[in-house]
Amino acid sequence: MALRCDETPQWVALQAHFSAQGRSLDLRRSFAEDADRFAHFSMQAPQVFADLSKNLWDRQTEALLLQMAQACQLERQRDALLGGQAVNTTEGRAAMHTLLRRPAGRHLPGDEPWVAAALAQVHATLDAMLAYAEAVRADEAITDVVNIGIGGSDLGPQMAVLALEAQRVPGKRFHFVSNIDGHELHRVLRQVQPERTLFLVASKTFTTQETMTNARSALAWFKAQGGSDVARHFTALTCNVEAARAWGITTSFGFWDWVGGRYSLWSAIGLPIAIAIGREGFRALLAGAHAMDEHFRTAPLHANLPVRLALLDIWYRNFHGFSSRCIAPYHAGLRRLAAHWQQVEMESNGKRVDKAARVLPLATAPVLWGEPGCNGQHAFFQMLHQGTDVLPLEIVAVRQHTHGLPEHHEMLLANALAQAQALMLGRASADGHRHFPGNRPSSFLLLEALTPQSLGALMALQEHRVFTSGSLWGINSFDQWGVELGKQLAQDLQQRLRTGDASGLDASTAGLLKKLA
Ligand code: F6P
Repeated sequence: MALRCDETPQWVALQAHFSAQGRSLDLRRSFAEDADRFAHFSMQAPQVFADLSKNLWDRQTEALLLQMAQACQLERQRDALLGGQAVNTTEGRAAMHTLLRRPAGRHLPGDEPWVAAALAQVHATLDAMLAYAEAVRADEAITDVVNIGIGGSDLGPQMAVLALEAQRVPGKRFHFVSNIDGHELHRVLRQVQPERTLFLVASKTFTTQETMTNARSALAWFKAQGGSDVARHFTALTCNVEAARAWGITTSFGFWDWVGGRYSLWSAIGLPIAIAIGREGFRALLAGAHAMDEHFRTAPLHANLPVRLALLDIWYRNFHGFSSRCIAPYHAGLRRLAAHWQQVEMESNGKRVDKAARVLPLATAPVLWGEPGCNGQHAFFQMLHQGTDVLPLEIVAVRQHTHGLPEHHEMLLANALAQAQALMLGRASADGHRHFPGNRPSSFLLLEALTPQSLGALMALQEHRVFTSGSLWGINSFDQWGVELGKQLAQDLQQRLRTGDASGLDASTAGLLKKLA
């Protein structure tokens, strides 16, 4: 097994470097002393330009982190992922979401034997799904598409459909129902008509309680409203096509167990995206992600954007002790970006043991959170500027706009720049209330335009960054056992809510149950 980052000699060197100079690094001084700091810490990756220069690190920090990554055999771990080895060790399978965006017939030198046949299946399914998406787009009788799914079967597709609004097919509305909270389904069903609605039941396992309950209620509503053609109005997106058929859905698009839920928007789970932006749009999304995969696969580590971001993440989490990262997309279309990235980061790396189940002696995934700028500026940025915690900020900005209101966009971009500048520079004042300490870190990710291609690249960037930090922490980033216990207990408590039986429960749960039963 590869070394964990804290087992490498560089870890000790990094600790010494942090004590000697990392802890006290001052960004203003660093820029004054290093005329090339911006050039060194910024780079162009496919579709994404990144400025990492306003972060609390210097060239020596990065050099040590890169050596640490080498010592952890990061390249070997990356190649194992991309070649289809069983990197998801607790479930004994590959995590091959990159195969979903690989061009047909493209083989890599390190591919496992099963990969070639799987790639052929990927493209056969993709072609069928895109043909179906085109048919739905052309079907004027369908005015509403309702995606019923949760977690990865909701967040990625929802984020992308919102982000790509400018490319969306006219005449169709898209709705996303995820929560078991009946208010959510009820709100959507009030707006749609059975004969004009396509329900997509999206669930990798086809067993998730929230999704199956919502789908059951949607089907009951459809029939109660006089709907009869289930084959036309219900389509399943799942690895478990058999279960979908047994449930009563005959139109299905499948995918494979080597696609993790939070990495599944590239698979049949992406059907709502394909309906929204069409065949060529969806292929462009895949191509953008593939370009980032190739960058991750081939760029040397020091010029590899996902790797550089992950090294910064480790520096912040394990040396500076920063426990969160604020995501601020300066584009309204990216309003669900933080929610999607939360799942990718926190479900993947929110783990307390390594691959050998040893308790980790170090902190892992930070909390990801955020809201679009400028809204966040008028809500919680106060704390970023003057709070007691240092909260690294990640700005995602888009140079072009599609709304025909240039003054708005200019103001938006000026605000994005100003926040990063203000956080770094601060402003001295004798009045403590008006004093800005500055030296607060931010990263700036910039897209030329928000297109399927650039969105694909941006999403793949986050996936690979999370894989990289997870690999260095020695984590299996592809399981999620932490969600199981709550699911099981909820089943027991649902029974108890019916009967009021609180026997054997802890006092708090028993007390609340009595209030709710
Ligand atoms: O419970 C967590 C989880 O398994 C996520 O990983 C997944 O994205 C979500 O539930 C939905 O699962 P499914 O697509 O199987 O319904």
